[in-house]
Amino acid sequence: MKIAFLLSIHFCLLVLSHCYGGNGYDPLESILNIQRSKRSDHIITKELTSEISYSPVYVGPQDGLKDLDKISSLPGEPSGTDFDQYSGYVTVDPNHGRALFYYLAESPIFSSNNPLVLWLNGGPGCSSFGNGAMMELGPFRVNADSVTLSRNKYAWNNVANVLFLESPAGVGFSYSNTSSDYTTGDIQTAKDSYTFLVNWLERFPEYKTRDFYITGESYAGHYVPQLAQLILQNNKIANQTIINLKGIALGNAYVDEETENTGLFDYFWTHAIISDEIHEGIISNCNFTEAGTITDACNDYENQAYAAKSNINFYDIYTPLCSPSSNSTPSITEFDPCTENYIGSYLNIAAVQQSLHAKPVNWASCNGFILGQWTDSPFTVLPVIQDLMANGINVWIYSGDTDARVPVTTSRYSIDKLKTSLKTPWYPWMYKGEVGGYVVGYQNLTFVTIRGAGHFVPSYQPARALAFFSSFLGGNLP
Ligand SMILES: *[C@@H]1O[C@H](CO)[C@@H](O)[C@H](O)[C@H]1NC(C)=O
Ligand SMILES: *[C@@H]1O[C@H](CO)[C@@H](O)[C@H](O)[C@H]1NC(C)=O
Ligand SMILES: *[C@@H]1O[C@H](CO)[C@@H](O)[C@H](O)[C@H]1NC(C)=O
Ligand SMILES: *[C@@H]1O[C@H](CO)[C@@H](O)[C@H](O)[C@H]1NC(C)=O
Repeated sequence: MKIAFLLSIHFCLLVLSHCYGGNGYDPLESILNIQRSKRSDHIITKELTSEISYSPVYVGPQDGLKDLDKISSLPGEPSGTDFDQYSGYVTVDPNHGRALFYYLAESPIFSSNNPLVLWLNGGPGCSSFGNGAMMELGPFRVNADSVTLSRNKYAWNNVANVLFLESPAGVGFSYSNTSSDYTTGDIQTAKDSYTFLVNWLERFPEYKTRDFYITGESYAGHYVPQLAQLILQNNKIANQTIINLKGIALGNAYVDEETENTGLFDYFWTHAIISDEIHEGIISNCNFTEAGTITDACNDYENQAYAAKSNINFYDIYTPLCSPSSNSTPSITEFDPCTENYIGSYLNIAAVQQSLHAKPVNWASCNGFILGQWTDSPFTVLPVIQDLMANGINVWIYSGDTDARVPVTTSRYSIDKLKTSLKTPWYPWMYKGEVGGYVVGYQNLTFVTIRGAGHFVPSYQPARALAFFSSFLGGNLP
């Protein structure tokens, strides 16, 4: 099993830009396997705790860098771009030569009043620019010719200034001159993201007091609450609102290992992917709690479940796979399953990298090396989420309901473990006369589903995604 898993990583390294989002690359499954084998070998990893000590972060000179980061235009961009875009590097460790890459898409209108929203993709090891900005919620999508772009009219920068951060170093265009930095994990990722933000706000001081939100999906279910907690702690220690954090939104988020497993196999069964026998085998042989041991019998049933699933789009179970023979229909509302390939080609064009102020690199959607070396990943971040809820942070959990990777069942089981009380009972929310999804309000927590959306919610249901995101920023239930 371990060999098969390593092989799959190597396979993906060879064809990395073809892997994430529909062609079988599954970084989350890999990290779960790594964590599980560490636990069975009794390797205890450190965890971000609430007693984290404050050490002042590195702040470098930022004068003049904002102007240099301004993008004049991206190759193949459609005419009529009516908003400002910036991208470049922020050094987070000058001694190691470690720098994180960002892309900022400001709003076409009301930019100076709209909030600042940070978006993070997961993996671990996957790019927030290539996936988040170019495939999901950013202003442009790459066309099937891999050289021109289309405007995404449902982009989230319509209602916010959206900052995409490639994190940690080694992901996307982010890098370090010290190769040992590529052995990293949750704690370092949170610290570097924090240092990035403090420096970035020096470069863009007009955002310093702006309402700030953090959103992300999948393994960013770890990154987002951990970074949010670090922000709150540092604000508290400094007696100052260094970063004006208001809320977080977690999409199809991996927040707890037990519910990830239980929710996954229940989703498989309730969505007619596995047989009764396999499901019952899992129920009666698997103990997915932190103290539980994974028996051979459990392993065997899990493998049977993955085999039974066969070759479907794990991230959006009812959509087609990317196939060389498919007649792609590249439109914003009908997601093209080969999009990831177009993005991989586009972001490796030298002129594109130049226009982004990126170092010339072989850009990949996900970095399998970083994933394979991942050092720390707590079993659950639910206590971190509880801490944020208790400290007045607006917490939303949202879920595209056709994702099998971190399915809606998993999110509901996680919320159950948070032990918060019901405030607004479950109801359908409407968009353009149709049910956009369902919503339920709890004390200090909102849960929203997006109907007919997979793991990458804004890719599959762009209009509904923008509707729910606008509600989130407005602080109202949809
Ligand atoms: C990494 O090394 C290159 C080459 O020496 C240098 O130009 C660059 O500034 C370094 N990066 C950082 C973040 O210090
Ligand atoms: C913050 O306030 C507390 C209590 O007023 C004080 O003890 C502490 O020194 C202050 N910290 C800073 C960094 O000013
Ligand atoms: C799972 O294992 C733990 C630790 O051995 C045990 O306390 C718990 O009762 C088990 N759960 C079930 C449902 O068997
Ligand atoms: C909700 O937030 C308030 C403070 O804003 C806090 O006192 C309360 O304990 C929180 N409740 C839950 C369940 O998080």
